[in-house]
Amino acid sequence: MTTKEKVNILMVDDQPAKLLSYQVMLGELDENLIKATSGKEALEHLLKTDVAVVLMDVSMPDLDGFELASMIRQHPRFQRTAIIFISAVRLTDLDRLKGYEHGAVDYISVPVVPELLRAKVSIFAELHRKTRQLETLNQELEQRVAERTEELETKAQALMEVNRELAQKNLELDAIVHTAPDIIFSRQADGSRDYISDRFYEYTGVAPSSAVGFGWWDHVHPDDRERSQQRWLDSVQSGENYEVEYRLRGKDGDYHWFRARAVPIRDHIGKVVRWYGICSDIHDSKLVEQSIRDNAAELEKMVDERTAALRRLSVRLMTAQDEERRRIARDLHDGLGQDLAVAKIVLDKVFQQSSAESDKQACIEASEIIDHAIQQVRSISHLLHPPLLDEVGLLSALRWYLEGLTERSGIETFLDVQPSDFPRLTLDLETAVFRIVQEALTNVFRHSEARKVWIGLTQREGATVITVRDDGKGIGKKIAELKPDCVGIGISGMKQRAKEFGGELRLTNTQPGTLVELVIPSTRVVSREGGVLSTQS
Ligand SMILES: Nc1ncnc2c1ncn2[C@@H]1O[C@H](COP(=O)(O)OP(=O)(O)OP(=O)(O)O)[C@@H](O)[C@H]1O
Ligand SMILES: [Mg+2]
Repeated sequence: MTTKEKVNILMVDDQPAKLLSYQVMLGELDENLIKATSGKEALEHLLKTDVAVVLMDVSMPDLDGFELASMIRQHPRFQRTAIIFISAVRLTDLDRLKGYEHGAVDYISVPVVPELLRAKVSIFAELHRKTRQLETLNQELEQRVAERTEELETKAQALMEVNRELAQKNLELDAIVHTAPDIIFSRQADGSRDYISDRFYEYTGVAPSSAVGFGWWDHVHPDDRERSQQRWLDSVQSGENYEVEYRLRGKDGDYHWFRARAVPIRDHIGKVVRWYGICSDIHDSKLVEQSIRDNAAELEKMVDERTAALRRLSVRLMTAQDEERRRIARDLHDGLGQDLAVAKIVLDKVFQQSSAESDKQACIEASEIIDHAIQQVRSISHLLHPPLLDEVGLLSALRWYLEGLTERSGIETFLDVQPSDFPRLTLDLETAVFRIVQEALTNVFRHSEARKVWIGLTQREGATVITVRDDGKGIGKKIAELKPDCVGIGISGMKQRAKEFGGELRLTNTQPGTLVELVIPSTRVVSREGGVLSTQS
């Protein structure tokens, strides 16, 4: 609650006793009561203080009430000060009129009724208070209006500054748009172009502004038009960025490749209101791109041809290698082996004919050396090309090879053949299978640290499967994936041989150990008799 602000009430009467009685009567109003015993004193108070109500006697000796009221009213500050006359004599209407003319607002007759006096004074005091409050509010309001006006002026200044900057930026933008090598455009939400930069007209040679609206499309190559328009419609519908490449006809009638891009501008609720875009000449880069593509295709073709040629060469090389091995093995066996055998016979004869003990001893030693040499020649020639492979077939050659491996390395080997009467295959396939198993086993011996190895030859529905599984340390992921930079000649040779017969080589880390699997489709497995092997149950 706010405490009321006291107002001043000036009581004017030449008789102090009356003033005292008014003071008593008005005491309970709780206002400031000021007493004046003459008109002059009253005027002094009025000039010094802000008086809400003047309560005065009409008849005073030096300056009567009416005269004082007139003087008060003349002063602009007191134009509205409430003046209540107290009159001892009964006033006629004429008197009252005179009083009002002099500025009175009310009359009280004697005897003064205290309640009436209080009520009248209190009304004017309240009126004064309200007026003051209103004035204060007015002042505050004026202050606020002034502040707001100042604020608005500052804002207006800032806005003008922004406008100036914007105009400057517009000029710069205009300069950029006019000097840009690309065509710049804007489109309405419906897709019609409402601005196209000069570059377009320079390029097409048509009259400025003639392409605004939908005229642009007339310059797009007929083969590109439908696709580009459709793309544009899609963008308008989805509100997604637009990007398309098409050919635009230049003033010389030639078409150049352009790339058009446009982005949507949205309002505060996200509705597309305009599009801004750029159309760039990409003709040269497009031609370079095309020639790179052509070259790449050409290069790829060449690489494919080279790869095929290399593959053929490698097949021929392997076949030649196998044949050369076979020839060397035969030469060793039939040539050196036979010569050594003859040398041994001759030595036996010398042994029988010699009598000296020392000669006999020399013969025995020489004979032992020749035996050793014969054994070595046999081993080397067998390893180069097991004669058994040609004669009694893959199975016998494998058995012979496995025996030798166990003997040399201590690795236990297990051969499982399904079906047991595994048929003979063509010589080149048997050679290939033998070489694959041989390389796989060499790897087991060299890299696996295995103790056991299982070799399987199976003919099952649709395929012949050869497996070599060991219980060693296994192979790395990249080797299992046959990554060319991770495998050596061994595995890539195995892969190559498999491919030669339309087959596939798979390597798996079986943890523990490694599984080498060769799968050859039955259609590629031809028997010695010349027919394709049927799958056997
Ligand atoms: N059974 C196996 N157990 C463990 N690691 C193996 C096995 N077989 C192959 N590897 C790993 O695969 C690698 C590649 O084998 P690959 O036969 O291709 O080459 P290589 O044996 O190293 O050399 P080479 O070209 O003389 O055969 C080997 O170096 C070896 O690390
Ligand atoms: Mg190897």
